[in-house]
Amino acid sequence: MSAKIIALLAIVLLIIFFGSQFLFYRFFKRTINFYKKRKNIKTISVICSILFLLLSILFAPVGFLVYIYAVIFCILFEIIRLVLNKIFKTENIFDKIIKSGIPVVISLILFFGYGYYNSGNFVKTEYTLEQENLKGLKIGMISDLHFGVSVDLEDLKEISNNIENENVDILFLAGDIFDEMTNKEEAANACKILGEIDTSYGVFFVYGNHDLGKYKKIPNFTEQELTSMLQNNNITVLNDESLLIDDFFYVVGRKDASFSENENRKTLDELLNGLDKDKPVILIDHQPLDLKVASEKGVFLELSGHTHKGQITPFGFFVKNFTEYDSLYGLKKEGNTNMIVSSGLGTWGFPLRIGSNSEYVIINIK
Ligand SMILES: [Fe+2]
Repeated sequence: MSAKIIALLAIVLLIIFFGSQFLFYRFFKRTINFYKKRKNIKTISVICSILFLLLSILFAPVGFLVYIYAVIFCILFEIIRLVLNKIFKTENIFDKIIKSGIPVVISLILFFGYGYYNSGNFVKTEYTLEQENLKGLKIGMISDLHFGVSVDLEDLKEISNNIENENVDILFLAGDIFDEMTNKEEAANACKILGEIDTSYGVFFVYGNHDLGKYKKIPNFTEQELTSMLQNNNITVLNDESLLIDDFFYVVGRKDASFSENENRKTLDELLNGLDKDKPVILIDHQPLDLKVASEKGVFLELSGHTHKGQITPFGFFVKNFTEYDSLYGLKKEGNTNMIVSSGLGTWGFPLRIGSNSEYVIINIK
């Protein structure tokens, strides 16, 4: 990043920071005045806005979200107030209600209350694809469970039952099933439940960027420990490996791209070279990358997660427009290749989800 862009970014951030603090100063001043006129209102309002900022830092990352959405709701209700004042031309009831600060507070409570509820509302997302050689195959996929954040043991048992009732032929665990917040005991329990799901061809796992707790100083378990936990529960780990299933299709699982410089992630070329071209390939890559190469190489289906569809609106917009990912969410076609990106079953960091679903994926091949 050039020095000019960094300087520009710093200026924009400073404007946003001081702008939001001024906004809260005005909000507190008006709201406090609404209930009781005070002499030292300016000082009290400055203290309140700084206190709000400190609390949002203290309770980060949820605190930051509350801060950002408080800015959005303050601006929104101010616009509504100004428009209504223009329409009514005199002081009106809406002006008083908005000045009370109640609409902003209620909006925040409803917004985050819904986000909490929605993170635990697990849904099935179903796709139907066509592939002559895989006709009748039913695939299940779970990605981004982040076990222990918004999905607990009881939830996982229920979801596993639902997937088992779908009678899938094969189940893919497409990365970030565990994360920095998952302890060893929780990981073992999750492996047991997932490994018990009955399928024709088995359960397959690829690593995501969070599974091994690499963003934590001391991870809760090593790669060897997690691999053993998975394998002991009949879950096949595919780490830059391919496997021919029942002599009629390949499953290829990639290493995660995040730490690829240190871990020599193979290229798609390297992984696919030597496979029988007449047999369909299902590729599992935690991050939705290399769709073009997959298409050139004749991959039938690429399954990914990682994006969470932004998890909280409007972050999906930034993921879609400012990252290298080939897709934010859903089904995308490139030639004869289908890429399906899941928004994930769990949530990252905090149990909040707005503008996307907590989902498991079922794919029917016709
Ligand atoms: Fe991820």
